[in-house]
Amino acid sequence: MKIAIGCDHNGLALKEALLKSALQGHSVRDFGVFGPESVDYPDIAFMVAQAVASGDCERGILICGTGIGMAIAANKVKGVRAAACSDVYSAKMSRRDNDANVLCLGGRVVGPGLAAELVTTWLNESFEGGRHQRRVEKIRQREEERPR
Ligand code: RB5
Repeated sequence: MKIAIGCDHNGLALKEALLKSALQGHSVRDFGVFGPESVDYPDIAFMVAQAVASGDCERGILICGTGIGMAIAANKVKGVRAAACSDVYSAKMSRRDNDANVLCLGGRVVGPGLAAELVTTWLNESFEGGRHQRRVEKIRQREEERPR
């Protein structure tokens, strides 16, 4: 599975930790940042979201201070279903029920151990489909009918 990843300055340490733990052995496209300079999280969120929406990457992971700004920005990109998660149950259910294709984490919210567990759980969990397919389809339809 090809994974797009990106972070702002508040997520850099956690991104680096994940690349050495849960993401070892995965094919990863890293959209930065690579240094401690302050950046605007939407710039990174849009690049990662676009990589997922275009099909270049199957999943995306975004990290800022809370994960919230990244999720808000990524969800503006058509076809992206981004979930900010800080507990394992929500990470699992974001795949099972919501078919989330982008996971957003808070570098100031979760430590490297929990983050690795969140990522591993989220990458391995499948979408359940069935009634959830109908619900996700309604979201997709809304994007088609009312893009704004
Ligand atoms: C800094 O821009 C901070 O707002 C960011 O890291 C993130 O927490 C946004 O949601």
